[in-house]
Amino acid sequence: MKNEEVIRILNEDFVTELEATLVYVRNSFIMKDCDPSRVTEAIAVDEMRHMWWLADLITKRGSKPTMEHKELDFCGNDLQTMLQKQIALETGGIEKYKKQIETVEDAEVVGVLKHILDEEKRHRKEFKTRLQGRMQEK
Ligand SMILES: [Fe+2]
Ligand SMILES: [Fe+2]
Repeated sequence: MKNEEVIRILNEDFVTELEATLVYVRNSFIMKDCDPSRVTEAIAVDEMRHMWWLADLITKRGSKPTMEHKELDFCGNDLQTMLQKQIALETGGIEKYKKQIETVEDAEVVGVLKHILDEEKRHRKEFKTRLQGRMQEK
């Protein structure tokens, strides 16, 4: 795998982390329940940290991180829908990082992607717990 291909993958990841950051920041303000809102806010910070790690790998390889995200889809304003959307974003990330860890040969990149993958798994668990709590309330 060429350096340009590694950079392309890293930028693809950077943009999805940027999108997750923005969606979670927005949702954390919309959520009226304190606990899921605080959890979403804390996880938004994790996603921004992932942006930094990826940007570091991108610049070290002679490129710049792209800020061109697609139009954001916030998927509604009720807690259940927001949590479902957040779980879907985490699942998308988990699947993507798993595939990349198998195909990328750059050891430094793989190390960072594994670390991010572990955190995305934890995020999904946190959101699922809140969603289950929400379903039981109803
Ligand atoms: Fe992330
Ligand atoms: Fe995440």
